[in-house]
Amino acid sequence: MLRRMLDRLPPDTELYGPDAPVAQLERRMAELLGKPKALFFPSGTMAQQVALRIHAERTGRPTFTAHPANHLDRWEMRGYSAVHGLRYLPAGEAVRPLTLDDLKEVTEPVAALLIELPQREIGGFLPTWDELGDQVRWARDRGAVPHLDGARLWEAQPYYDRPHAEIAALFDTVYVSLYKGLEGVRGAVLAGDDATIGQADIWRQRLGGALPDAWPLAVAAMIGLDEVMPRMAAFRDHAVAVAKAVNTAGVAAVLPDPPQTALFHVLLPVDAEAATKARDELLAERGVQVFGHVRAESVPGRCRFEITISENSMEFAPDEVAELIDEVVRRALR
Ligand SMILES: Cc1ncc(COP(=O)(O)O)c(C=O)c1O
Repeated sequence: MLRRMLDRLPPDTELYGPDAPVAQLERRMAELLGKPKALFFPSGTMAQQVALRIHAERTGRPTFTAHPANHLDRWEMRGYSAVHGLRYLPAGEAVRPLTLDDLKEVTEPVAALLIELPQREIGGFLPTWDELGDQVRWARDRGAVPHLDGARLWEAQPYYDRPHAEIAALFDTVYVSLYKGLEGVRGAVLAGDDATIGQADIWRQRLGGALPDAWPLAVAAMIGLDEVMPRMAAFRDHAVAVAKAVNTAGVAAVLPDPPQTALFHVLLPVDAEAATKARDELLAERGVQVFGHVRAESVPGRCRFEITISENSMEFAPDEVAELIDEVVRRALR
């Protein structure tokens, strides 16, 4: 892989220093997101915790608020608290998108409002542009900093049909992922004003995130920006077509309907164990793995999995996907 990446670089490319791939990527991201500065991080986990810590220190408030299915609270072993001494106040309900009314119930002063676009855990829901504006205004009116978890900003952008910078302009700090949708190796970027990113640089050093050899991650991310990012609208359109075929087949249901991004959920009328067993059977017989992880629903006899359309899933015709899902359900019900 390193050899293939090196092949993409002009022979005289410096791998370290102000014109190295990491610095190039940071400048490119700052421009794309319309922010004065952008800083590479080895992970979104580190980048977002650092951003929230800075907002907490600047506002003198230890608490941030976000939808209950946010990545920080669910998947990061509460590093915001264990490492940074921050508090998290949930807003809204885990099973549905965040609303302005949910935010109005947050009465404690908060340092930041974290908004994830799209809200992955519930199927990739996006607020409308107006709803998003209202939520951000709610934060600003209370002296809280709007921060974007843009792990999938690339996937969200076609829905808003506005430049990335216009979406990012709503927020003071923006995190984007270098792998996931961009199909890179790993890594993240945090963008914001000079002072915030200057402080983020210090925290990155303190946390051991200033990797001197991160250039392969930056090169992979720039390939993703060139080749994968422009495909996001096509991926979303294919997701809509696949979802329609799944719904029409009638056995499974999609969420959201229609999908707003290349990512959506499929709800199955069978339990997770039976669905997994059926998936494995189908994989052994036909060499196709219909889904990765399946999640149990709170209602017995129901489960869900996530589909993200990317280049390799464009090969699957919508009816073919619907037929495969039908087959999983038929086998799981046997
Ligand atoms: C919505 C969201 N935010 C943040 C992260 C954290 O990113 P990383 O894996 O780079 O730490 C993820 C990773 O899956 C994510 O899905």
